[in-house]
Amino acid sequence: MPEYDLAIRGGTVVTATDTIRADIGVRDGRIAAVADRLADAARTIDASGLLVLPGGIDSHVHIAQPSGPGIVMADDFASATRAAAAGGNTCVMPFALQPRGQSLRETALAYRALAEGQCHIDVAIHLIVSDPTPAVLGQELPAMIGAGFTSFKVFMTYDDLVLNDRQILDVFDVARREGARVMVHAEGYDAIRYMTERMERSGQTGPYGHALSRPQTVEREAAHRAISHAELVDLPIVIVHVSGGEAMEQIAWAQERGMKIHAETCPQYLTLTAEDMKGLGQDDPLAGSKYVCSPPVRDTASQEQIWSGIQRGVFDVVSSDHCPFRYDETGKRNPKGRTSFRWIPNGIPGIETRLPILFSEGVSKGRISLNRFVALSATNHAKLYGLYPRKGSIGPGFDADLTLWDPNRREVIRQEILHHGADYTPWEGFAVTGWPVMTIAGGSVIVEDGRILEEPGRGRVLDREIDRTKLSPRL
Ligand code: URP
Ligand code: ZN
Ligand code: ZN
Ligand code: ZN
Repeated sequence: MPEYDLAIRGGTVVTATDTIRADIGVRDGRIAAVADRLADAARTIDASGLLVLPGGIDSHVHIAQPSGPGIVMADDFASATRAAAAGGNTCVMPFALQPRGQSLRETALAYRALAEGQCHIDVAIHLIVSDPTPAVLGQELPAMIGAGFTSFKVFMTYDDLVLNDRQILDVFDVARREGARVMVHAEGYDAIRYMTERMERSGQTGPYGHALSRPQTVEREAAHRAISHAELVDLPIVIVHVSGGEAMEQIAWAQERGMKIHAETCPQYLTLTAEDMKGLGQDDPLAGSKYVCSPPVRDTASQEQIWSGIQRGVFDVVSSDHCPFRYDETGKRNPKGRTSFRWIPNGIPGIETRLPILFSEGVSKGRISLNRFVALSATNHAKLYGLYPRKGSIGPGFDADLTLWDPNRREVIRQEILHHGADYTPWEGFAVTGWPVMTIAGGSVIVEDGRILEEPGRGRVLDREIDRTKLSPRL
């Protein structure tokens, strides 16, 4: 009997801290050895000329999430995890959204049931708490945290999700007591409503009005408010999808004062601008809605500010915020959308393009090191959300979740090469250098050169535990 089920030989192994030439031996779905030269294996993969990376972990994706009357999310668990795997990811973290008036527990269990048996790669589920009733705060949320749903998101905007300040404080308090990670969508509800009505009155109702209705001011204000609440409760939080310098400077200010505020950004804030929402050069007046997400994408100066925040260590993670809608009546062009940008479903697809864009714009263009790329795309996600040291790095004992990456391969992102359920990509025609050529999940090759090799079902739904004394890991 060979010593290993699989050996990956001759590649350059990259972790958040090291870059070494080594072979990797896999046994029973886990990494058994990382060494100069390994004994026999049942199967050998030649990785010479390639990077061997921890599989990407995308800790912020939306899959099969209820999205309002007549609107359907373009991905179910099978298609979202297929696209994620093709993009070099081996774990994604979607959200079980609690509709107001419904039990958090039933929401979480029903969502987990939807995922079971349908996934190509492992998933771990966050909650969205939209209705923190006394029963939710007192019983359901602590019970679900105890059952392995150890992270959740709260919203400071959206009619059917927004929490007021007292509710945010109460939810933070439960997270601190029970040991959970809280993600905050920081945009101010009332300010957005005021600006939306103002834009509509002035006739700015097209997709670009979305950007005007949510300027950086509303994000900066909410970020500061969330930070202040976190300070009162003494809870480390993650401010997600930070779009520009204004909110980022609030976070940097808090970090400089020694507060445990973590931050996430996304490829859209590094590559797209509000101009894209104008749909210039297209006959279709709604074309700009393909770029509508919240917070909105900003401008090139904001992109540079976010890069500098990535370089300075303000940001811990880059996620996709994949939130896929089709460009038809089930999604972006839902009939109500013809009257005002306020009805355009918010969100863009990006689960499959996150790693190539971050690698190309970051590593290939010399802005970040390979090790920082691994930290931002995998390791820090695992550490923040209770998946470490099972996932997020390469070493004995870690799940054999690996991506073989060709750092020199040039590709042009096009809808026709992608595997998601959306019918467009915001990055159509975007050229990248660096591309995933093989995805290995639990020791099995599941994607090779864009070809999906398995039916869905391998991926598990992972329970997690966050040690409450380690709510702030060293990243
Ligand atoms: O526009 C976005 N980002 N939609 C997804 C939901 C969220 O707020 O992350
Ligand atoms: Zn959000
Ligand atoms: Zn941090
Ligand atoms: Zn999101």
